[in-house]
Amino acid sequence: MADSAPVSRRLFIQSSVVTAAMVSAAQAKELEDKAIASHQATGLRFGEVTPTSAIVWTRLTKNSTRNNDGVVFKKRGKSEEALSMPAEQIEGACPGMPGEIRLVYGTKPDYSDAVETPWVAVNKEGDFIHQFALTDLKPSSTYYVKSETKANGVMHAPRTGTFRTAPLPSEAKPVRFCVMTCQGYPDRDHKDGHPIYPSMDAKDPDFLCLTGDLIYYDNDAPSAMSVDLAHLHWQRMFSLPRLVKSLSHASAYWLKDDHDTLSDDSWPGRTYGEMTFAEGQKIFRQQAPLGSDSYRTFRWGKDLQIWLTDGRDFRSPNRMKDGPQKTIWGPEQKAWFKRTVRESDATWKVLISPTPMVGPDRKNKNDNHSNEGFAHEGNELRRWIRENVPDNFFVICGDRHWQYHSVHPETGVREFSVGAASNSHAGGTPGRNPDYHRFHKVQGGFLTVNVQREGDMSEIIFQLCDVDGNVAFEKEFERKVND
Ligand SMILES: [Fe+2]
Repeated sequence: MADSAPVSRRLFIQSSVVTAAMVSAAQAKELEDKAIASHQATGLRFGEVTPTSAIVWTRLTKNSTRNNDGVVFKKRGKSEEALSMPAEQIEGACPGMPGEIRLVYGTKPDYSDAVETPWVAVNKEGDFIHQFALTDLKPSSTYYVKSETKANGVMHAPRTGTFRTAPLPSEAKPVRFCVMTCQGYPDRDHKDGHPIYPSMDAKDPDFLCLTGDLIYYDNDAPSAMSVDLAHLHWQRMFSLPRLVKSLSHASAYWLKDDHDTLSDDSWPGRTYGEMTFAEGQKIFRQQAPLGSDSYRTFRWGKDLQIWLTDGRDFRSPNRMKDGPQKTIWGPEQKAWFKRTVRESDATWKVLISPTPMVGPDRKNKNDNHSNEGFAHEGNELRRWIRENVPDNFFVICGDRHWQYHSVHPETGVREFSVGAASNSHAGGTPGRNPDYHRFHKVQGGFLTVNVQREGDMSEIIFQLCDVDGNVAFEKEFERKVND
């Protein structure tokens, strides 16, 4: 009995020591986990790629993952509950965190030739985003990018990705790209993101084009009637695992349309709840990897040049009477388009437009160049294309939720509508019109375009793909090249 007390005390002391050791090991593990987790739940975005430059979009997030357990709203329209609730409590939210970001990038997978940027501070004012403008890149090269973050003295695990630079205009190189549009959040058809993303990845594109209506402020609950809710829409869509993966393994050119600027068929000066059109423009520019111009053109080698137009910033009110003054592009963009298309010596010239130029569209629509409300400018542009580039010019459009290849009966202008991003988002067609359509199908999907050479011929092949990547319609054009 005399020895029992010291034994139990010894055991007690021993077990306390063991517990203390276990707690500190657990704490250490937690600290280690924190240190190795990346804090970039909204991923990386590569944009505006040329042979020698690119923009890399980065954002520091408070948490490593999106809020998968947050509040889900089902009804659209004004919601006092959504407007008053901290946005980070809503499903899909990825709140930001102040701290610092830097990039390490080079052409070797082991970063042995990498360049390091200085650390850059990010804060709430900029939504914790920094867009790095990279210059002096090598043409036709794969770049390996590591985005590193730190906050409160803790360094996080990096996020990594790759993109390819464009070939020089003098180089005849094959190019492949994919174009998508119109992605709803509730109708994405898979919890991790729209099936088109893995299907586009499987095509191994040199670049993607995201052609507007990338989120639906007004259609998808909770309706984005405030800046905070607008940010929430961006966070929840672009933190979906499939989107994060695709956008960190290919660059993308981003175009906006009505629903990701403000609301259905909107124009400058409109408001939606507490949101103004100007705030919508600013948020798009912040969330997409963009340079200073909302309309621009990019060359991908000898055989391809693309034009990316803006259909929102310069437009007249939709309800204005049609005539020479009524415009979607505005006089400066129109002059730029005509001048640069005329000057281009690319074998193939492709306009990627957020809205259609040929259609046909539903009779009651009044928002794009194929609608009667914009017939004056629509006719002017279609005639200009016929007179100046009748043979090697194509239009690819977003906005419409069905796929088609149409040829304008009077001018011969050719258009490919890439369809909605998911099958459950597809619909709305006025039906097949034999005067226009060479192909017409109500389905979700995307477009793949291949430019390649076969001997002294250059080919451009358009493939309208379903959401799984199966080719539903293919159309090939070829031209003799002399070099
Ligand atoms: Fe749409």
